Amino acid sequence: MIISLVNQKGGVGKTTLALNIGAGLTRKNLRVQFIDTDPQGNAVQWQAIEDNVAFKIMHLPRAIAREDVASARADNILLVIDTPPAIGEITLSVLMLSDLAIIPVAPSILDIWSTRSTISLVAEVKKVNPGLKEKLLVSRKIPRTRLGRNGREAIEALETEVFDSEVSQRIAYVESMIAGVSVFQHAPNSDASKEMESLCEEIIRETGLQALP
Ligand SMILES: Nc1ncnc2c1ncn2[C@@H]1O[C@H](COP(=O)(O)OP(=O)(O)OP(=O)(O)O)[C@@H](O)[C@H]1O
Ligand SMILES: [Mg+2]
Repeated sequence: MIISLVNQKGGVGKTTLALNIGAGLTRKNLRVQFIDTDPQGNAVQWQAIEDNVAFKIMHLPRAIAREDVASARADNILLVIDTPPAIGEITLSVLMLSDLAIIPVAPSILDIWSTRSTISLVAEVKKVNPGLKEKLLVSRKIPRTRLGRNGREAIEALETEVFDSEVSQRIAYVESMIAGVSVFQHAPNSDASKEMESLCEEIIRETGLQALP
């Protein structure tokens, strides 16, 4: 199973989400490996800060091929793949191999507009990878604002399924990243940890992954 985080829009939270999803699913006793395909290598730096992640992070800053994921597939390992903020051959190669593409969208009109081309790309890829399923995720929502409340409606206008779970703009994400750990470890009872837990449970339901409680 391959889950990827894609959106050509930069800064929507792809890397933050990918790392926390990886950590959250690892905590559900799933065997997870992480591939960072972004030449920026942010996820790899995270691992370098503190070597306490329970999943392996590989940096493959290039288009990936079937061979790159073959051994994980054979061992039934869940791959979480982070992609760069551009629609190019790297993102395309990841989508070609993905089962679930999570497309984070910040509830701002510019982000919503630029997400359209990511959705179009996914539609093209599905012609050759019919197993691919895409789902939008409200990311970096600003709590207690009208924009935060109405953002979902605007995102639903993209006519693509949206996760029920939403991820807000919270300092816990930034602080945990600085500490080199997930929100689950950094702030176990925080709203960030709760919304990420809810997202991970939804991913498990969506994909039919067999997780232990
Ligand atoms: N939910 C959040 N709450 C607060 N800050 C966040 C959140 N998600 C991401 N950030 C911050 O926003 C910035 C961009 O996040 P991140 O690197 O995860 O996005 P990205 O989509 O991977 O960016 P890029 O497109 O450059 O790869 C980072 O400084 C990160 O700490
Ligand atoms: Mg990133």
